[in-house]
Amino acid sequence: MSEKNWDRVPIDAQSIDAPLSRAAVFLVVTVASEQTALAKVCSVLDGLDDLIKTVGFRDLPARLSCIVGIGRAFWDRLHFDQRPQELRPFARIEGAAHVAPSTPGDLLFHIRSERPDLCFEFERILLDNLSDGVTVVDEVSGFRYFDARDLLGFVDGTANPTGLALPASALVGDEDPNFAGGSYVVVQKYLHDLSAWGRIPTPLQEEIIGRTKIDNIEIDDDDAPRKSHKSLTTIVDAEGNEYDILRDNMPFGRPGQREFGTYFIGYCRYLWVIEKMLQRMYVGDPPGHYDRLLDVSTPHTGTTFFAPARPTLQTLVQAARQAPATPGR
Ligand code: HEM
Repeated sequence: MSEKNWDRVPIDAQSIDAPLSRAAVFLVVTVASEQTALAKVCSVLDGLDDLIKTVGFRDLPARLSCIVGIGRAFWDRLHFDQRPQELRPFARIEGAAHVAPSTPGDLLFHIRSERPDLCFEFERILLDNLSDGVTVVDEVSGFRYFDARDLLGFVDGTANPTGLALPASALVGDEDPNFAGGSYVVVQKYLHDLSAWGRIPTPLQEEIIGRTKIDNIEIDDDDAPRKSHKSLTTIVDAEGNEYDILRDNMPFGRPGQREFGTYFIGYCRYLWVIEKMLQRMYVGDPPGHYDRLLDVSTPHTGTTFFAPARPTLQTLVQAARQAPATPGR
């Protein structure tokens, strides 16, 4: 990506490549059906950059950033005559043993910072501004756990694309020119059964994930009878091209409630890539040989969004603000 000046000025809204952080908030809301709610939400989205400046400038090295994703149903309420080619609702998946539910969400706010208090402050003011225009349907505060481990104890995020491979995998390109620079975003909130995971011997845990636990070395499991999570989520086409996604998963939890989770968030250039990963995890390859990570990890949400590039977002919300009210809405 181009040179970034992240220590000098706040981070622009919609910077998919903003740095992975120590803290994050994942906020999913639905928007009330009235036209006034739509107008209020669009005005807040129009001012997202200013809100990042308001909070982020108070501690620039804390690198506050925010990305908003728009769900398919809400997109259709905006007065915009085009839609990203692949934007569709998250499709529920029923595997032989595990189900990935599809849950509602009009907007996703992915708020990141080195400091949880900045995430908190940004979310507080954001929700104040959105007020009764929205209903919060899910809110998760994630934290970095040691050397970027998930609560299962494995380092999570290693195979993320870097350098030029990052925009090539995460950002829409010339194939959909009206939405170039944007990204499809899929989220799932997983809760883990840590006691059951703890009963699995470490060598088998490593087979399930596809990496060693302590030193994070990739395991070559091409000939293994059962594919690992790493292999099931590796997508290669007939010509041998591999399709990556950008993940920024975060652990979350409340030990007092025995709640231990991973918030999965994936950004991709082609939505079909994440959909295919999910099919392979839940249905299995070959079918039946699903991802054993799911035996100890249950998804409670599943929602798809599109995060437009910053100029597209501005055009979108400004068009919606200027559109005449539709009678009855
Ligand atoms: C309970 C939820 C999940 C946990 C704890 C988890 C954890 C991990 C871990 C530890 C790795 C290996 C290190 C790495 O490269 O990051 C990994 C790799 C990966 N995961 Fe997940 N994951 C979860 C869900 C998902 C989902 C739902 C998807 C996609 C739909 C996904 C896609 C990937 C991909 C693409 C890789 C890299 C594979 C490669 O090596 O090329 N993960 N995950």
